[in-house]
Amino acid sequence: MGTATLQSNHEELAALTSGLRVNIGCGTSVADGWYNIDNSPTIPLSRIPFARRLLRIPAWPQDVHRHNALKGLPFSDGSVDFIYSSHTFEHFTYDQSLALARECFRVLKLGGLIRIAVPDLEQLVRDYLQDRDPMASHRFVSRLLLAHTWRDFLHQGAHHSQMFDTRSLLAMLKAAGFPDPRPSRFRDSRIPGVFEVELESRRNESLYVEAEKRS
Ligand SMILES: C[S@@+](CC[C@H](N)C(=O)[O-])C[C@H]1O[C@@H](n2cnc3c(N)ncnc32)[C@H](O)[C@@H]1O
Repeated sequence: MGTATLQSNHEELAALTSGLRVNIGCGTSVADGWYNIDNSPTIPLSRIPFARRLLRIPAWPQDVHRHNALKGLPFSDGSVDFIYSSHTFEHFTYDQSLALARECFRVLKLGGLIRIAVPDLEQLVRDYLQDRDPMASHRFVSRLLLAHTWRDFLHQGAHHSQMFDTRSLLAMLKAAGFPDPRPSRFRDSRIPGVFEVELESRRNESLYVEAEKRS
């Protein structure tokens, strides 16, 4: 099935149900009723049992659409109700993440919402400042995960290209066109069913923001 057909099928289905909800960089945490996007090269490899065992690849759910979000989102203008993304924007450079946020703005309907969770730099800094261990500086730097290695090819979620705090994530969303992005809290969202994709295991390390497309 071509991208255009898939796109219109999803848009038609969304019109009949509670709206089109897109999860960008879903990893293996997918849920029914979401359009799950991930670009990992391990998705096709995981369908080959031998390769999966050899490379110790996770069993990717069938309903993940393999797509590079940096190449644009496969939806027409103003056709998506809700966008969710957890621990993915920090894997892009700032310019890439801003371009993707602008793309999210393009595909969202007026009144549509975007919700982003990322690792909280401020929390990491706070942890470091309270850590009395002589090697605290090294632990802090390694927790930032900013050193890229060959493993990034197989697991694009392994290392970061930037880190956000609440202020910088809000500023990025503003620059992308969202007039009034707000800080949010774990599972405290206007997106229906966000608990289906927002992971408890990410709660203590994350910051959350939510924004509405108004014009
Ligand atoms: C750290 S994982 C986060 C997974 C899940 N959302 C979570 O919170 O646990 C980041 C995910 O983003 C995906 N990713 C990285 N670059 C991407 C891209 N350009 N387009 C789509 N997905 C991408 C990776 O394959 C990976 O599964």
